[in-house]
Amino acid sequence: MSKHIVIGVTGGIAVYKILEVASKLRKLGYSMNTIMTKNACEFVQPLAFQTITNNYVVTDTFERPYTWDVEHIALAKKADVMLIAPATANIIGKIANGIADDMLSTTVMAARGPVIIAPAMNTAMYENPIVQENIAYLKDKGYLFIEPDSGWLACGDLGSGKLPAPEKIVEYVVDVLEQVEAPIEDKGTSHKEVERDLEGKHILVTAGPTIESIDPFRYITNHSSGKMGYAIAEDAAKRGAKVVLVSGQTNLECPPNVERINVRSAIEMYEAVHEHFEWADAVIKTAAVADYRPKETSHHKIKKKGEHLMLELVPNPDILKSLGERKSHQVLVGFAAETQNVIEYAEDKIRNKNLDFIVANNIAEAGAGFKGDTNIATIIEKDGTVTEYKKMYKSELGNVILDKLKNYLD
Ligand code: CTP
Repeated sequence: MSKHIVIGVTGGIAVYKILEVASKLRKLGYSMNTIMTKNACEFVQPLAFQTITNNYVVTDTFERPYTWDVEHIALAKKADVMLIAPATANIIGKIANGIADDMLSTTVMAARGPVIIAPAMNTAMYENPIVQENIAYLKDKGYLFIEPDSGWLACGDLGSGKLPAPEKIVEYVVDVLEQVEAPIEDKGTSHKEVERDLEGKHILVTAGPTIESIDPFRYITNHSSGKMGYAIAEDAAKRGAKVVLVSGQTNLECPPNVERINVRSAIEMYEAVHEHFEWADAVIKTAAVADYRPKETSHHKIKKKGEHLMLELVPNPDILKSLGERKSHQVLVGFAAETQNVIEYAEDKIRNKNLDFIVANNIAEAGAGFKGDTNIATIIEKDGTVTEYKKMYKSELGNVILDKLKNYLD
């Protein structure tokens, strides 16, 4: 079954380039539907997209092609990937603010797969701080963006905001489609989730942030969402492993067949992890542990006085390092979130913490990091092997890490 793309077209002179994008995607064998906003129809007739994609085009929320159940839900379900191009400041603003008032915005809201947005607009609009904030917010939520090119714009200005060439858009979309899980019918033997190849293994995973209390109201923490660790725990359980997940505070539900132990501070995490260390065949330490905690935690709310408040911090135990010192048969996997010198720092951590391998990512890169659903990882092993991976969903990366872990367990 071929993958399906839903193209959302908004109003802009660059609409004509998307006809070429659709044509190229069709030649590559993808099926498509198009949703056009009213403004998009001012630039190009829906018939043009209908002819190129050989499929009906939706132009309004209340249109009712006979094949549909509930219009926007049907299209959202069908989409392996959504591409919004050209994307105006208006549609970006709507998505960022949860506004769903037409066919395109309601479909985006219901989409479960990746949504790729290719902004195209006047430079001043593109550089407007509100637009930039909306883009940053959406990137943080896992929306993918194709950066606009710089050049002469239709309005006569020179600057950024130009829709990239169709080839570049097609390449990006195909790249994302290749990372999307195969449809159920295609999963066959290639899909690792169904192979119970970790049966009998005991895997201890840590996830999420630690919280270090200052007083009953205030604390120090970080932006970790726990998504990466939860994805690994879920993948490992599906592959038959017995999984204990030591989790800092997150909003995530415990994955099926996983035993979760909730902790708050680094000290609590240290204790829970050491308690299960003997039991474990492998430890995957995804958690973002606070390196320092307040020297004292006040039992009462600290009252405001004077101009300055000095907070004295003391180091937390390095949990992973302590496991490295205690290690007997266990495989130890660390994580490293860096903003620079990723490989160099990761190699240092392998040595200092006696790890088997480390999963490093540059959290400054779009699509990598704490809150989104995707990550861009490099695995560095103790023998110096470095493997770089493309941007992928955290659940997919979970399986990549478990594949690597399996080599060590075997
Ligand atoms: N880690 C840990 N205990 C700590 C700090 C980190 O177990 N007190 C673990 C993390 O779970 C992660 C790995 O060590 O698997 C690397 O964490 P990171 O924060 O990147 O590195 P640090 O050792 O804290 O070094 P730095 O902050 O200097 O980068």
